[in-house]
Amino acid sequence: MRNPFLIGERIYLRPLEEEDLDRCMRWINNPEITATLGRRLPMSRTLEQEWLTGQYRSEKGFSLAIVLKNGDHHIGNCGLHEIDYQNRNAEFGILIGEKEHWGHGYAPEAAKLILRYGFDELNLHRIALEVYSHNQRAQRAYEKAGFTHEGAKRESYFRGGRYHDTLIMGILISEWRAQ
Ligand SMILES: CC(C)(COP(=O)(O)OP(=O)(O)OC[C@H]1O[C@@H](n2cnc3c(N)ncnc32)[C@H](O)[C@@H]1OP(=O)(O)O)[C@@H](O)C(=O)NCCC(=O)NCCS
Repeated sequence: MRNPFLIGERIYLRPLEEEDLDRCMRWINNPEITATLGRRLPMSRTLEQEWLTGQYRSEKGFSLAIVLKNGDHHIGNCGLHEIDYQNRNAEFGILIGEKEHWGHGYAPEAAKLILRYGFDELNLHRIALEVYSHNQRAQRAYEKAGFTHEGAKRESYFRGGRYHDTLIMGILISEWRAQ
């Protein structure tokens, strides 16, 4: 393991480095990977570099690389954003960029590491996320990590020629402690 920050059973999370940028660019410009994300504009190398620099300068959020312990293979990124230290809220985000690694339960494992860090180290009260209604894979992954459905912003997301609902999912510290 290289520079691990949070360590799980099959994966570990580490800070992103300059050398990861080309891989991240490939993921974020691949329509197959981004079809369920809010971002749909092309990402340039310059913008990606600025994004990485901004990640670790601000206390409002961070992204970490998701790395398979077996083979030290970087397969995606996840993190907390919009951290609000007054209300003790934050938003979770994740992307597994290597499609052959979908369906192995890596997203729930990464989410649980971030949830533990958010609740036990950052003293958060609620961690939430937004997911589009057609992204059932993500909803299932989030349910497995302990998130529950809180509500929907109806027909708020346009993709593939039609509108989808934006679903809100969240987990409170009491629910995290109980599971
Ligand atoms: C969404 C994502 C993070 C899920 O990661 P993952 O590691 O593949 O998640 P899991 O391995 O837990 O698999 C997802 C679950 O959804 C299920 N699933 C897959 N397709 C499904 C569908 N169409 N309907 C319902 N469930 C589905 C799988 O069977 C699995 O559940 P199971 O373990 O009970 O069988 C990953 O696919 C990804 O990064 N996608 C692109 C970016 C993205 O959408 N990010 C999330 C934005 S909110």
